[in-house]
Amino acid sequence: MEDTNQTIVSEFILQGLCTSKKLQTFLLLPFSILYLVTVVGNIFIVTVIITDHRLHSPMYFLLANLSFIDLCLSSVNTPKLTIDLLKDNKFISFGGCMSQILGVHFFGGGEMVLLVTMAYDRYVAICRPLHYSSIMDRQKCIWLVLISWIIGFVHAVSQLILILELPFCGPRVIDSFFCDIPLVMKLACMNTDTLEIVIKSDSGVLATTCFILLLISYTYILLTVQRHSKDGSSKALSTCSSHIIVVVLFFGPIIFIYLWPVNITWVDKFLAVFYTVLTPLLNPAIYTLRNKDIKNAIKKLINHM
Ligand SMILES: *[C@@H]1O[C@H](CO)[C@@H](O)[C@H](O)[C@H]1NC(C)=O
Repeated sequence: MEDTNQTIVSEFILQGLCTSKKLQTFLLLPFSILYLVTVVGNIFIVTVIITDHRLHSPMYFLLANLSFIDLCLSSVNTPKLTIDLLKDNKFISFGGCMSQILGVHFFGGGEMVLLVTMAYDRYVAICRPLHYSSIMDRQKCIWLVLISWIIGFVHAVSQLILILELPFCGPRVIDSFFCDIPLVMKLACMNTDTLEIVIKSDSGVLATTCFILLLISYTYILLTVQRHSKDGSSKALSTCSSHIIVVVLFFGPIIFIYLWPVNITWVDKFLAVFYTVLTPLLNPAIYTLRNKDIKNAIKKLINHM
């Protein structure tokens, strides 16, 4: 083994959000509040859905699961990012770095599949309304959730295995606020061109497949809604438009970062903040503000307290 001759990197240094010390101190409060609101908001949605029996339907169970994944996803990066704003040297251990990669891809991949699942649920509800309760029974719903977690897990582990193989011996500065695979790969002391293609296609295939499936189902849904416009389809349309906003917010930045060959660091960082910090907050916000059933359930819960 050659490894014994090389100095093995046991920690990396993150460059953080920006270089200005003042700006970082200034950002501490907004980021802390964002994270707090994300955690409270998502826990609140899960609680409301689990405690209110009128919300015990596949759509809301899936929504509760989405909130739960969002909670986990935001907890991978945001706490460290926020605490790091106070530090001059933002170290992250090798293990910590690998955990971030695992976490982001596990919850991120799971969320993508879950969004597809939610689109499928809406597709059945709107395009096959008479068969809805037989197609989306409790068992099926649990399976769909399980499949999301399993695909997320397999995806994350496959990415991690490839990264763990790499030798790290030289530079260890990552120009970001978390361990993003492309940036970590650049630090490996070997040629990673082939590996880069493998890793990018791993994420690319998952993201593209999910995105195409989402496009197909929402196109179908919107066409159906349009054909039957008048008979109470405005509620369907409003539900679906929240779904579509969430999908665009989630996939927009990811597609931009991974498929667009721009290499402007601040654009990348801005988009990374967007999908790791803001999207997990926006999902609960969008669903609660636009959904009458959830608003009623919240009122009921508050009255009970
Ligand atoms: C996720 O979905 C399953 C299946 O419908 C449901 O039983 C469970 O309560 C949901 N989990 C959360 C955290 O909402």
